Amino acid sequence: MPFLLLILALGLAGAMEIQVPEEPVVALFGHDATLLCSFSPEANFSVAELSLIWQLTDTKRLVHGFSEGRDRLQDQGQGYANRTALFYDQLALGNVSLLLRRVRISDEGSFTCFVRVRDYDSAAVTLHVAAPYSKPSVHLEPSKDLKPGDVAVVTCHASRGYPEASVLWQDSRGANLTANVTTWQVANEEGLFEVRSVLRVLLEPGVTYSCLVLNAALRQHGHASVTITGQPLAFPAVALWLTVALAVCVLALLALLAFVCRQKIRESCREDEERPGPEERDEEGEEPKTGGCPILDRAPGARPLPNSRFSESPDPG
Ligand SMILES: *[C@@H]1O[C@H](CO)[C@@H](O)[C@H](O)[C@H]1NC(C)=O
Ligand SMILES: *[C@@H]1O[C@H](CO)[C@@H](O)[C@H](O)[C@H]1NC(C)=O
Ligand SMILES: *[C@@H]1O[C@H](CO)[C@@H](O)[C@H](O)[C@H]1NC(C)=O
Ligand SMILES: *[C@@H]1O[C@H](CO)[C@@H](O)[C@H](O)[C@H]1NC(C)=O
Ligand SMILES: *[C@@H]1O[C@H](CO)[C@@H](O)[C@H](O)[C@H]1NC(C)=O
Repeated sequence: MPFLLLILALGLAGAMEIQVPEEPVVALFGHDATLLCSFSPEANFSVAELSLIWQLTDTKRLVHGFSEGRDRLQDQGQGYANRTALFYDQLALGNVSLLLRRVRISDEGSFTCFVRVRDYDSAAVTLHVAAPYSKPSVHLEPSKDLKPGDVAVVTCHASRGYPEASVLWQDSRGANLTANVTTWQVANEEGLFEVRSVLRVLLEPGVTYSCLVLNAALRQHGHASVTITGQPLAFPAVALWLTVALAVCVLALLALLAFVCRQKIRESCREDEERPGPEERDEEGEEPKTGGCPILDRAPGARPLPNSRFSESPDPG
């Protein structure tokens, strides 16, 4: 087949044929790209004879023009000003490649190289733009007080990449996790994507969740992971401390209650002693009335009571 084409080309003597790469050109966002295009000039070829047009294949918008030995940029499409150049020292060799500076996402597409000397020919070059994603970051929500069986949300985030990424989640065994995954890709004003993927999991201690962000155009992949470790173990410790704290509280409360009760009992005893009715004494006979108060209250060394029966009260008998 190439042999037949060669014969055909030789047969059409004087006909010009231009060469462009068949594979799309991949350029990095913000970097310069070279769109290759060349032809084999005749021996007596002079650059002054060359007319060259680089244009967008679908809209025919002019990207760069060259004729009669100089650039023709009056009709150049918006957005290409100051961003295009030819390799001027190579024109005489039939190299009419285009240099496109500071590649943007909007540059992605097909460019046609149109050349006329005495004869003419054209061919298209496809430009793909790519941008590597930032290293992914992963975080776990909630980040503390986790216990096995809880539902947690693992979020993976990477930014400023192009084209859209593929996001893969894997567990510790390297198995793909596809259930309960939601992924968003949002383009910013420059056309670069921000990717956010959310994995909902039932927590198991010791499991690692890894997020892989793949950029197929660059065969680039970023990776980040989070391991559920220690956190579930922290739970029993927290529970223990809570239990201890609670027990201390309850004991303190009980102690306070006991103290208050004792005070109350003491007060009621005092009241009983302050107004001992004569009738009462007559009825009761010789027995000193204690009113059910603990004997302890009357112990020597205790605060002397104003009308203590042991000291001042007249006691019959
Ligand atoms: C260049 O050479 C070709 C023959 O090979 C001839 O037809 C053509 O006129 C020449 N052009 C110039 C500018 O001399
Ligand atoms: C291109 O460069 C010229 C000269 O440096 C400048 O005046 C012009 O504003 C530039 N145009 C754009 C679109 O940047
Ligand atoms: C044309 O020029 C560019 C830039 O210098 C170079 O990369 C490319 O290899 C050249 N192509 C040919 C066919 O010489
Ligand atoms: C996970 O999925 C990716 C992409 O679909 C695939 O290439 C890979 O082989 C899978 N891995 C496993 C362990 O299934
Ligand atoms: C994950 O998805 C499965 C169904 O695919 C569902 O049964 C399970 O409850 C989900 N788990 C969580 C934590 O949402």
